[in-house]
Amino acid sequence: MQPQIGWLRHVDIMKTIGILTGGGDAPGLNAVIRAVVLTAKHHYGWNVIGIRQGFDGLLHDAPSIVLDEARVRNLLTRGGTILGAVNRGNPFTQMIERPDGTVEAVDLSEEALRRLQGLGIEALIVAGGDGTMAIAQKLVDRGARIVGVPKTIDNDLAQTDVTFGFDTAILTATDALDKLQTTAESHHRVMVLEVMGRNAGWIALKTGVAGGADAILIPEIPFDVGKVCDHIQSTRTDGRNYSLIVVAEGAAPVGGGQEYYIKSGGVMRLGGIGYIVGNMIADCIGAEVRVTVLGHLQRGGQPTPHDRWLATRFGAAAVHLAAAGKWGEMVALHGENIVSVPMIDALQMKQVDPEGEMVQMARDLGIVFG
Ligand code: F6P
Repeated sequence: MQPQIGWLRHVDIMKTIGILTGGGDAPGLNAVIRAVVLTAKHHYGWNVIGIRQGFDGLLHDAPSIVLDEARVRNLLTRGGTILGAVNRGNPFTQMIERPDGTVEAVDLSEEALRRLQGLGIEALIVAGGDGTMAIAQKLVDRGARIVGVPKTIDNDLAQTDVTFGFDTAILTATDALDKLQTTAESHHRVMVLEVMGRNAGWIALKTGVAGGADAILIPEIPFDVGKVCDHIQSTRTDGRNYSLIVVAEGAAPVGGGQEYYIKSGGVMRLGGIGYIVGNMIADCIGAEVRVTVLGHLQRGGQPTPHDRWLATRFGAAAVHLAAAGKWGEMVALHGENIVSVPMIDALQMKQVDPEGEMVQMARDLGIVFG
């Protein structure tokens, strides 16, 4: 994806680009930052400025940092993002407190654009999920020069085959399931592992298959816990006295809704279905059940080599996209190739196909989906 004739003016003119990371963190974000800085410097001779704390930091004076080669040394192996990330701070709906104490949402997008200019940033790379891409696209509509890098451990973005962070999350979740297996076997227990993934069951499906689960409950297939209990009973009749159940945080029973808990600040987050499933199984088969909610452990730790590689490819390709002036485009993986797609399309969700080959393969192994 080298710059094409006709867009070369961006290469000639640009001296400084910026980068920010939006939404939640994901293993591999630092590898993206590193690849952007190294490609910008070595291939184009550009400087890179890092904006801290996403769009929120841009609007609230978080000091930006000059990202030179020394600053990104040793970043490949580090989880999180050195730039910080927040999943608030939409410039189009900034919450402002009026002198009379009332709080109002105001549009500060023009201010965001002015601040980018003020920093001397001629093009901006944003690494984020669907929310970040939606904001970026609206800024592009107002004249901003932005390209995107997709990021999420959930792997639920339709326009890319895979996102970095997903492989690391699978490794962490599978490692947890492997560890639960030994206690399950020793104590003849049913171990329930709740994993992340929002409204997609990718983490649960891959972890469940890789860790030899008996049942995998995902948002795409409403579950009947009676079927899970029947399956556990039949494995016990066959002489195996333990079971492993993987539950996606977004899974829901037939005719029922998803489970949420409320974080401080009133933000609703998926979670808690693992305990409900655990209680239901304990009630129906009378076995000892234990529940583990893996939570944010899935977002942490060193990125796997796969995620470092993909993040590096995405970061480098995003710099070439900026050089080509492809504002409003986002890098993506299609097969073995890095391509670019409209950022706005990143809003389409990719879910597990309940009738697809992967679920069928798991069913053929005897895994129950409820
Ligand atoms: O999108 C990534 C993710 O980790 C989801 O799997 C999870 O539902 C959500 O973010 C948690 O968000 P937060 O870190 O804001 O609690």
